[in-house]
Amino acid sequence: MCKSSELATRRQVAVARGVAGKAIYAAQARNAELWDVDGARFVDFTAGIAVTNTGHRHPKVMAAVAKQAEAFTHTCFHVAGDEGYLRLCERLNALLDTGSENKAICLTTGVEAVENAVKIARAATGRPGVVAFGGAFHGRTQLGMALTGKVMPYKKGFGPLPGAIFHAPYPNAFHGISVDEALRGLDTLLTADIAPEEVAAFIIEPVQGEGGFNVTPPAFLKALRERADRHGILLIADEVQGGMARTGRMFSIEHSGVKPDLVTLAKGLAGGFPLSAVVGRADLMDSPHPGGLGGTYAGNPLATAAANAVLDVIEEEGLCERAEHIGRRLKQALTRMAAVVGHEAIGDVRGLGAMVAFELVEAGDPAHPAPALCAEIVAEAERRGLILLSCGTRANVIRLLPALTIEDAILDEGIGLMQDAIRAVLGRVQKAA
Ligand SMILES: Cc1ncc(COP(=O)(O)O)c(C=O)c1O
Repeated sequence: MCKSSELATRRQVAVARGVAGKAIYAAQARNAELWDVDGARFVDFTAGIAVTNTGHRHPKVMAAVAKQAEAFTHTCFHVAGDEGYLRLCERLNALLDTGSENKAICLTTGVEAVENAVKIARAATGRPGVVAFGGAFHGRTQLGMALTGKVMPYKKGFGPLPGAIFHAPYPNAFHGISVDEALRGLDTLLTADIAPEEVAAFIIEPVQGEGGFNVTPPAFLKALRERADRHGILLIADEVQGGMARTGRMFSIEHSGVKPDLVTLAKGLAGGFPLSAVVGRADLMDSPHPGGLGGTYAGNPLATAAANAVLDVIEEEGLCERAEHIGRRLKQALTRMAAVVGHEAIGDVRGLGAMVAFELVEAGDPAHPAPALCAEIVAEAERRGLILLSCGTRANVIRLLPALTIEDAILDEGIGLMQDAIRAVLGRVQKAA
């Protein structure tokens, strides 16, 4: 029995089945390559779901963490603060344009940042309501689930969920939902379900992650900003997946020119160490009373040391430009592929920067998703040595998230493997038809 199948057997016995996952067991990883316990090598187009944007074990990140570990690993910021936490907050405050002075707070996971952004918005406005959007993903806690716009596997059976959370339609041109139609839905919600004066915040991913790498049209974000300003509602940009240079800007909302009030960050923030943050307008961030925010591990010194190194690497290695370059290469390859295999199967190629995806459909029809085809391509790619991830409310989208530090040769190798996998699977499908 090879080691990974042995680990798979142990996993079945020891780990709750609710934790989904691939059958890959990592032994070693470097930049955009991963070796499993059986010695198989993979090109990694997932970066641990947009976490190791600076690659697995970037030398600068590793050195910063090792140096911090020599000094102390945990004091709890509430007990004894440290300069690394402060420096990180100062840097994030300077990077985000909200149109005013900013303040920040460090936390541990993405959903914890989302929870805290909502707490801050409610404290600042004195209002309970939060409006999220169809297909959104904001995490797996009770509030995260309530904000998430997809029932399976995230919400089913876990209720009752917290109240005062509403969902408005999300504009999706590929699925025939225009910006105007989505805005009409939002305006209906604000007359039929909750008064705008009772809404604390709109929360939106400028590029939906789990929902299918749907790029929110700038016109929609502008319209949200306009409604938010009109009604005293705050705009929270959930940048947990799309932030940290992934889309070619530090924050993905920058593409739209819209200024958010608060942003949530995690994943790519600390290059593989658990850290998240809320950054936003200082007047709002200071609304909760002392002691109302924080957490035992929030802003762990090893993680903030990693994050400060990540920010250095993003700047020194020009990772925003790199993200654009990688995204262009991926999109070109996929668009060519779609032209060759026909748009019958690859219905859409989309994304921003190095957050790229393609949607698989039947007979070129957006209304007919092809989740089985999607799963087959992911499995075939894995057999050939490329790790891919699916996403999408209909599980028919393949998302590409290579490290922004990926070498061109490895990127090309990964693209080649992906093309071979698509060709092989579509060839089998055609033969069977
Ligand atoms: C946009 C967005 N928000 C929140 C989360 C939750 O982050 P975490 O899994 O770290 O709690 C995710 C995770 O994928 C996400 O993509």
